[in-house]
Amino acid sequence: MTNHKIALLDGDGIGPEIMAEAVKIIELVAKRNSVTFELHHAPFGAGAWFSDGHSFPEQTKALCDEADAILKGPIGLSHEESKKIPMDMQPERGALLPLRRRYDTYANFRPVSLPRGLAHFSPLKPEIIGDGIDLMIIRELVGGLYFGEKQTGVNARGKRYVHEMLEYDEDQIARIAKVAFVTAQKRKKVLHSIHKSNVLNSSVLWNEVMEEVGKDYPEVELRYTLVDAAATYLCLDPGQFDVMVMENMFGDILSDQGGGILGSLGLMPSACVGPEKIYYEPSHGSAPDIAGQNVANPYSMIGSVAMMLEMSFGMAEEAKNVWQAMQSVFAKGYSTPDLSPTKNEAEIISTDRFGDLVAEELNAL
Ligand code: NAD
Ligand code: IPM
Ligand code: MN
Repeated sequence: MTNHKIALLDGDGIGPEIMAEAVKIIELVAKRNSVTFELHHAPFGAGAWFSDGHSFPEQTKALCDEADAILKGPIGLSHEESKKIPMDMQPERGALLPLRRRYDTYANFRPVSLPRGLAHFSPLKPEIIGDGIDLMIIRELVGGLYFGEKQTGVNARGKRYVHEMLEYDEDQIARIAKVAFVTAQKRKKVLHSIHKSNVLNSSVLWNEVMEEVGKDYPEVELRYTLVDAAATYLCLDPGQFDVMVMENMFGDILSDQGGGILGSLGLMPSACVGPEKIYYEPSHGSAPDIAGQNVANPYSMIGSVAMMLEMSFGMAEEAKNVWQAMQSVFAKGYSTPDLSPTKNEAEIISTDRFGDLVAEELNAL
């Protein structure tokens, strides 16, 4: 029987709660298929800093190196709590960015998807949503401002200053462009390059390389949209987009807006793909405002499991079943508390009840 080793990094805040539901589904998938999953939890994030003195401990690195896939919960503390950890050791700088760098996970897939039947969760009007929302944000994840050279100091005028470099070379852009074109080819054959070339030279190079790579994919139509306008179009007419590709920082912001148009960040899973390793995580953070209350929406975490089944383990059919099971739970009139527009009609359920119901639905498929 095939065995897959999975590193589970629960993370902070709501991380352990939504991870527990993901594990329920992974275990059920193992029962339903001729496959075994070897699950290993390891400390990662702020919790790891307090328990092990490092937010990405050596033993976690070793486990991730060996694992066939990594499933990661959100990390991070509230603004106030973060100050208890030295800046470079805070989980974002001390664990998450090093994880991305370690496995060179340059291609971040952030699906923004709401089938028609669940369209009532979106704050957008039904006439804007039409047949539902279904787009794929592809975010470059290991370049740009996040990983550029940084300097802080006091300048000649005695003023504190900061300098952060935004750097991309053509190879970095070409490899994410290829991923985006291949994805667009499998979908509606339209790719939007999101940019700011009216100001940023990095975007000029970005678009030049997009166009060059596009020559190998003549059946895909390449369109260009400025990032500020794209933010508006996502609200007014998301249907004009299918696959969107953008640099790291733009992708961070627009993908959270993707969560906004769906109705909650809790509906946003993701996959972070490198040359040899893929790790999976919700796009959202550790939600300190609701942590420990059994109210978080585990859809993003279970959706990340579905992405892992398909992308790492070649189990596309079972991945579809997991999506369908989650959507059936909502279609039957249940809702997690974050999806507030349906509060009046829906039965509001807890994090663990959602996981149980998804397992029931999956069992029935
Ligand atoms: P957040 O994404 O944690 O939360 C924003 C809002 O969305 C909150 O109201 C929260 O309750 C809600 N929310 C998020 N996920 C939800 C879910 N699954 N179910 C229900 N509601 C959900 O953003 P924030 O509050 O700005 O950041 C909190 C911490 O998370 C910060 O330390 C930040 O750095 C970190 N963070 C980590 C990651 C990651 O690990 N990849 C991503 C984003 C933010
Ligand atoms: C995300 C997060 C991270 C990012 C933070 C926590 C470093 O917001 O995954 O979207 O900005 O990439
Ligand atoms: Mn983000």
